Amino acid sequence: MKNQKMYEADDKLINIIRDNYNILQSLGAFGINIGFGDKTVREVCEDQSVDTNTFLTVVNYTINGYRNIDDIERLSVPTLLKYLKASHEYYLGFQLPFIRKELSEALDENDNLARLILKLYDEYAHQIHSHMKYEEKNVFPYVQSLLDNNVVGDYDIDTFSKHHTQADIKLKELKNIIIKYLPSDGLHNNQLTATLYDIYNNEEWLSAHRLVEDEIFVPAIRSLEKKNRQSDVSVKISNMINQSQDNSDALSDREKDVIISLVQGMTNKEIADHLCISTNTVITHRRNIARKLQIHSPAGLTIYAIVNNLVDISSVIL
Ligand SMILES: [Fe+2]
Ligand SMILES: [Fe+2]
Repeated sequence: MKNQKMYEADDKLINIIRDNYNILQSLGAFGINIGFGDKTVREVCEDQSVDTNTFLTVVNYTINGYRNIDDIERLSVPTLLKYLKASHEYYLGFQLPFIRKELSEALDENDNLARLILKLYDEYAHQIHSHMKYEEKNVFPYVQSLLDNNVVGDYDIDTFSKHHTQADIKLKELKNIIIKYLPSDGLHNNQLTATLYDIYNNEEWLSAHRLVEDEIFVPAIRSLEKKNRQSDVSVKISNMINQSQDNSDALSDREKDVIISLVQGMTNKEIADHLCISTNTVITHRRNIARKLQIHSPAGLTIYAIVNNLVDISSVIL
């Protein structure tokens, strides 16, 4: 069933499913409903507002274990988040109860061994439930806050990643017990075989889900954290630059006096006498004014003075 072809945006979706029917379960989690005719992956994704690249990354990874490192940078985190949430809903709301029902129909509940098997299954279901609810209550809201640029606290994706464990050990145990030790008659044997088949499928689904979280979701969030940190730093740096520019470019009161005098047609000597400073100081002020305003001509300074209300237009010698 594994197919080594790398699927691309122009492949027909129906062909991928023909090659690997397991991905049918992923389609629902992406919000893609069946009935898409002969459309390509790109067409179906665009119709359903799913990011094509993210869809293909998950599909190619799930089918072939193929992951291009460049994909991580281009992944849509909102699409991944929606996919994982919907996957949880599918597993908790549909798969777990479905297998429970199959098991209880295939087992004789009056039998002690059968009751123990159901108990083991319920423990497994409880474990999976806690695992997924932890992600829904902690990880997904954290990622949403990263997307909203509104992170509170010091939780990060590495904290999650370090504690993200395999949650299907009980399922393996259950399967082995049924296969190795459960005596059954012909009818029950058929029912149990069908149930076992579904349990195997479930196990594969869960392992693929965990791998998508570890190998695609976690690196994507790590990259988002890095981008957010970089933009935080660049905002801080640009604030610092703006601040220092603001400070150094602001005209002093004395410089404003020099501009007013210049606009009124005074020479350096006249300005010096008028403001009771030396001619050299006037020249220094003029140099600083030109640097700060990047205005060198008297006409330019006149316009600046009028626009900034340093002088009234009627007092200006034109
Ligand atoms: Fe999960
Ligand atoms: Fe998980």
